[in-house]
Amino acid sequence: MLSYLLLILVSLYPSISGTNIAVTYDAASSTCTAAISTCIDSNVTYCHSSNESTSTSFAEKLLKRNAKGIKATNQKMSDLIGSVSEIKNTATSNTRAIRELLEQMEDLIALHNSSTSSPIPTSCQEIKNKEPNSPSGVYALATNGSNINLRYVYCHMEELCSSGGGWTRLAYLDMTDATENCPSGFKLYQSGGVRACGRAYNADASCQSVQFPSNGISYSQVCGRVVGYQYATPDAVQHGLWQNPQRYVGGTDPKHNNINKAYVDGVSITRGSPRQHVWTLMGGVQGSSIAYDGRYNCPCSPGSTQSSFIQDFIKNNYFCESGAGTTPSRIFYTANPLWDGQGCGTLETACCSAPGLPWFHRNYTATTTDYIELRVCGDQETDDEDTPVSFYEIYVK
Ligand SMILES: *[C@@H]1O[C@H](CO)[C@@H](O)[C@H](O)[C@H]1NC(C)=O
Ligand SMILES: *[C@@H]1O[C@H](CO)[C@@H](O)[C@H](O)[C@H]1NC(C)=O
Ligand SMILES: *[C@@H]1O[C@H](CO)[C@@H](O)[C@H](O)[C@H]1NC(C)=O
Ligand SMILES: *[C@@H]1O[C@H](CO)[C@@H](O)[C@H](O)[C@H]1NC(C)=O
Ligand SMILES: *[C@@H]1O[C@H](CO)[C@@H](O)[C@H](O)[C@H]1NC(C)=O
Repeated sequence: MLSYLLLILVSLYPSISGTNIAVTYDAASSTCTAAISTCIDSNVTYCHSSNESTSTSFAEKLLKRNAKGIKATNQKMSDLIGSVSEIKNTATSNTRAIRELLEQMEDLIALHNSSTSSPIPTSCQEIKNKEPNSPSGVYALATNGSNINLRYVYCHMEELCSSGGGWTRLAYLDMTDATENCPSGFKLYQSGGVRACGRAYNADASCQSVQFPSNGISYSQVCGRVVGYQYATPDAVQHGLWQNPQRYVGGTDPKHNNINKAYVDGVSITRGSPRQHVWTLMGGVQGSSIAYDGRYNCPCSPGSTQSSFIQDFIKNNYFCESGAGTTPSRIFYTANPLWDGQGCGTLETACCSAPGLPWFHRNYTATTTDYIELRVCGDQETDDEDTPVSFYEIYVK
């Protein structure tokens, strides 16, 4: 009887929360142990390789934080474990204990089954609304309003982008963590302790893309930051016509005004398909002196001619910075990270005092479940210009 019940337990729990609750029974000591394993997949977006997500106390934290969801499930699980122990310890007349056990199982299934009134939150905002004092950290969220599939997501609960807390993190990369890899397809730049991810080699214009699904989270705001570096000679949104007039005789560079092309030397953040612009992070060529009559300097630098042809879809939703001071060459400028609001050259004072830096923020009138896309782009070959990224975090609510 006992082994039969244990079998039920073990087969029941995986269906309750994916593959992440395991019940093991140690016959020698007659104890049942429930363990929640966290990284159910290798998706670094949701299951970042920090110690928090692998420590044993992590399961306890989850249980504490999702008071009405996982905690309730765990309570039921504890009851079950208690009942199993009772059956084991009672030599005769297990009837009452078995009945209780079955009742608890029914409760557990019902608790889990109630997808219409899911006890497990679906977004960080929902947790924040229910328990405003919840700290930032990794939480289990139900996917698509169902609590069948849990995923582990970092919630930023304190104020961000001057717009309160309850932010769900969709994207995260921290290349200072030596175990972290570049997103698929990106090229790893590595020098002087800096690791960053840029475009795969291309002899012409290209964008390297990574997408972050919202997993059904409905949002109206995006808040995030990106840190990149200058490689060689990016030139922000410089118009290809000037650079290479023979290629665009009588017209404009078709890349320039097209959000789907390499319209920037830098990072393009968009949402959904067709792409809607969220933010552009431009890499200028040099921060302390004018380059080619100002054609290659950041639009926010005095003397730059780029301010006259920033794309309509960008408007003021951009940051721009250069990593090199004057006359750059084909090197990876690791000393001055871009878009952090610091270390700007003498011509980039205005660039470095853009509101919000290093955080960009968009506030939409309508909600969406669009995925977010981050592209590292350049309108010339990678040997000539690139802006590899070493860090990003993007939140929605
Ligand atoms: C992991 O992230 C990728 C996008 O980076 C997404 O397509 C995929 O669905 C995610 N996997 C899970 C299990 O969430
Ligand atoms: C994470 O854990 C490993 C091994 O337990 C340890 O060596 C490392 O210092 C820890 N890192 C942090 C940031 O605590
Ligand atoms: C679970 O939900 C299904 C479909 O709504 C229902 O048929 C079933 O009776 C429920 N089970 C329990 C134990 O509540
Ligand atoms: C979430 O719902 C969307 C739309 O209904 C669907 O396309 C997607 O596959 C669902 N994701 C998961 C993980 O169930
Ligand atoms: C966002 O927009 C709404 C109106 O659409 C406004 O009420 C709210 O104050 C805005 N929030 C921020 C932080 O700008």
